[in-house]
Amino acid sequence: MNAGWQVELHEGDVALRPIRVRDQRSWQDVSRRNRDWLRRWEATVPPALPGRAAGPRPTYRQMVRYLRGEAAAGRMLPFVVLHKGQLVGQLTVGGITWGSMCSANVGYWVDESVAGRGIMPTAVALSVDYCFSVLGLHRIEVCIRPENRPSRRVVEKLGFREEGMRPRYLHIDGDWRDHLVYALTVEEVPEGMLERWRSVRRSGAYGN
Ligand SMILES: CC(C)(COP(=O)(O)OP(=O)(O)OC[C@H]1O[C@@H](n2cnc3c(N)ncnc32)[C@H](O)[C@@H]1OP(=O)(O)O)[C@@H](O)C(=O)NCCC(=O)NCCS
Repeated sequence: MNAGWQVELHEGDVALRPIRVRDQRSWQDVSRRNRDWLRRWEATVPPALPGRAAGPRPTYRQMVRYLRGEAAAGRMLPFVVLHKGQLVGQLTVGGITWGSMCSANVGYWVDESVAGRGIMPTAVALSVDYCFSVLGLHRIEVCIRPENRPSRRVVEKLGFREEGMRPRYLHIDGDWRDHLVYALTVEEVPEGMLERWRSVRRSGAYGN
């Protein structure tokens, strides 16, 4: 059993901890309120064969069991994002691959009512530092639809490198969508991502 995912990470009012079955009520409240805000960016499952209907959406419990099972197998870090102790979003480190790759990807969302306060760059910085300095990963990537300006700002403010476009890369909001790839390797952040983000904030360059 891999226990490296059972960790809590903090910076100021922002914290990350593993998602739990007992988060159901707050997770469903925040998801329901943000349905329209999230729809355009939400991962969907395509039908197995053209013309067939896609399968039913998993229940909350099924989703959490799946995420925690993947975490226990060492393939994921399924975090909720807390702001002042309230559940305001999710950040998932997925696709953890070892061997000669040592890489993972990061996906995230936050409640519209707290958007624009730098919560997600802080959460991404916490997760990247954990992946590099505790887990020992070498590369982290974030794939973003080109039209998702707010999400691109998150990785640009943290200094991720834009690597290029993957055509029709992920099934989002009911269709295959192009994605820009942003990435970083550990050599590119010798000072640590959180330290970099703190100094970006201190400089006042981005307002949050
Ligand atoms: C992308 C997202 C996670 C950003 O989180 P965040 O905590 O708001 O991040 P920031 O505070 O750094 O804001 C990022 C950008 O959002 C925009 N923004 C600012 N205030 C905002 C507000 N009140 N509402 C919406 N967007 C706002 C700005 O472009 C900002 O960039 P700037 O700092 O250069 O001005 C959030 O917008 C979100 O959950 N969007 C819907 C889901 C999604 O797109 N997930 C990512 C898929 S790749």
